[in-house]
Amino acid sequence: MKKKKNKKKKSGVARLIEISKSKQQVFIASKLLTVAATIIKLVQLWLIYKITSEAVVGIINSHAVNTPVIKQHALILVISGIVYALLRYTSSRLAHTSAFEIICDTKIALINHLNKIHLGYLDNMSLGKLEKIIMTDAEKMEGFLSHHQMDIIEVLLTAPLVVLYLFFVDIHLTLALLVPIVIAVIIMTFNLANPENKKDQVTLNNEIENVQTEIIEYINGMNDIKCYDIGERSMSEYKKSIFGLSNVILKIANIYKYIIGGFYATLNLPYLTVFLLTAYRYFTGFDKTVLISNFVLFLIAVTIFKNTFETFFILSRSMMEINERVSRIDAVLNLPIIEEPKVGKALQKYDIEFKNVYFDYGTTAILKDISFKIEQGAKLGIIGASGGGKTTIAKLIIKFLKAKTGEITIGGINIDDIDSKTLMQNISFVFQESYLFKDTIMFNLTMGRAVPEQRVSEVCKMLNIHDKISRLKQGYQTVVGKDEGFFSGGEIQRLAVARILLKDSKIIVLDEATASADTENELYLQKAFLELAHDKTVVMVAHRLKTIENADQIIVVENGEIVESGNHSTLLAKKGRYYKLYNYQNQSAEMTISNLAEGDVLC
Ligand SMILES: Nc1ncnc2c1ncn2[C@@H]1O[C@H](COP(=O)(O)OP(=O)(O)O)[C@@H](O)[C@H]1O
Ligand SMILES: [Mg+2]
Repeated sequence: MKKKKNKKKKSGVARLIEISKSKQQVFIASKLLTVAATIIKLVQLWLIYKITSEAVVGIINSHAVNTPVIKQHALILVISGIVYALLRYTSSRLAHTSAFEIICDTKIALINHLNKIHLGYLDNMSLGKLEKIIMTDAEKMEGFLSHHQMDIIEVLLTAPLVVLYLFFVDIHLTLALLVPIVIAVIIMTFNLANPENKKDQVTLNNEIENVQTEIIEYINGMNDIKCYDIGERSMSEYKKSIFGLSNVILKIANIYKYIIGGFYATLNLPYLTVFLLTAYRYFTGFDKTVLISNFVLFLIAVTIFKNTFETFFILSRSMMEINERVSRIDAVLNLPIIEEPKVGKALQKYDIEFKNVYFDYGTTAILKDISFKIEQGAKLGIIGASGGGKTTIAKLIIKFLKAKTGEITIGGINIDDIDSKTLMQNISFVFQESYLFKDTIMFNLTMGRAVPEQRVSEVCKMLNIHDKISRLKQGYQTVVGKDEGFFSGGEIQRLAVARILLKDSKIIVLDEATASADTENELYLQKAFLELAHDKTVVMVAHRLKTIENADQIIVVENGEIVESGNHSTLLAKKGRYYKLYNYQNQSAEMTISNLAEGDVLC
């Protein structure tokens, strides 16, 4: 198992850009345009100051206002306004394009990565969590990437340049403006630097995740909840998660009410300080022309600063959020991927062998020292008590899990030396939960490969599902999940079995693939399946012994160990575990395959 080359070094937006690689130029272009737009905005401030000064000088000194100069400045102001709007429009357009492309790339990277990992380990990541990461976390970055990024540039550029200019114009008013702003920034920096803040953000995200998981759990388990009348208990779990979330929100709100209150109050203070200093100057005989133009300029500057730092505050929170989201995306992208061989070996033979295989998910041993061999074309039955490790064996063969020690070979080749594509071409598998795509039945059976229709109906006839499909108005062209395209659990399993038989791979792995059928149907289905798969190497995990009675070899797996192996008659003769299970199951299942007449319709 190989960890993807460490990309953890980068975080936040830098990491996102790294994931999406190619969109960097558009991203940089949109930033450069924002820089240009911000500079124009500053020029506008200067122009407004010039116009105001000219007008005030003319009015106060009772001589004609210098209209040509004002007109000239006003014209430049209008033109710069148009240019500013165009630049911001283009930069915002580019930022949006690149933001959506980055989100799209991130989602594709996540899905691609999920395609490369050992799928068996995914069971440990809740569906709610995965859904939140792929959909919500990726989606929620749009606001930051398309808007906030641009705002950051504007903030970083505007603040120092405006301060520089203001110092140049009027040092005392600049200080009157700056002192409260600096205090506001200190309050905010102090708050942002607090590690508790980051922790709260993580807790908040976890609580949101909990609520989502509980909702999904509640919906998934609705049948059982109603059946066992445990609505109240399930609801209380859901309520618990809601209360957990509201507690975190209240805690954050409690801290923020002082910090935010203090921050906004101080941020608005410059209106007062600038006004008070101007009033003082008025009464102490300050030059009126300078007084008025500077007052107008500084009022505009206060508004700019206030907006700038408000934005900065919002951004700092969203920056924290984005880092948190990206690290969660990285948690998926860092799931270990299947180590592919440099040069995959081709398969010539199709026997399967386990040599001293050990497996665990971290601590407890799930499989201990498992060894067995199935010859090419032979049928292996695996039975045993629930939780013994049968599914784990099936998952190891198809590389859904990776053995910790020992070796698994196919045709004498270690499965680690067979690339996943070759392996998947040669193996078909059906698990208890089969999935039908929202496409035609024909697509679901052939998975888009060219298979003669006659062959499809032949297999379906043998598996006793052809009649049901033929009765549908659109037959094999019926779309699953629409109009008449609905199937029972047992029917879905037949379609899944038909699908693997039509794939015609050399090895077939079935994990309780026919368990949804009733006993008689399952036996019928197994019989048909074995006929169709007579030349294939088959691994069948079953909970009904009858279904694997005819297997060439049977292993009994309990507590991660093979406790018995042999064929049906040798195992019965041993009078051990298999014998006991067989007798126990026989008491409850009286009907056997021998009771069935050829062609009996059982569904
Ligand atoms: N994703 C998982 N994480 C941790 N333990 C697991 C996981 N999946 C299965 N197990 C454990 O592995 C053991 C064997 O499971 P499994 O192979 O599915 O048993 P069987 O198919 O024989 O019923 C069980 O004890 C089960 O609790
Ligand atoms: Mg199982």
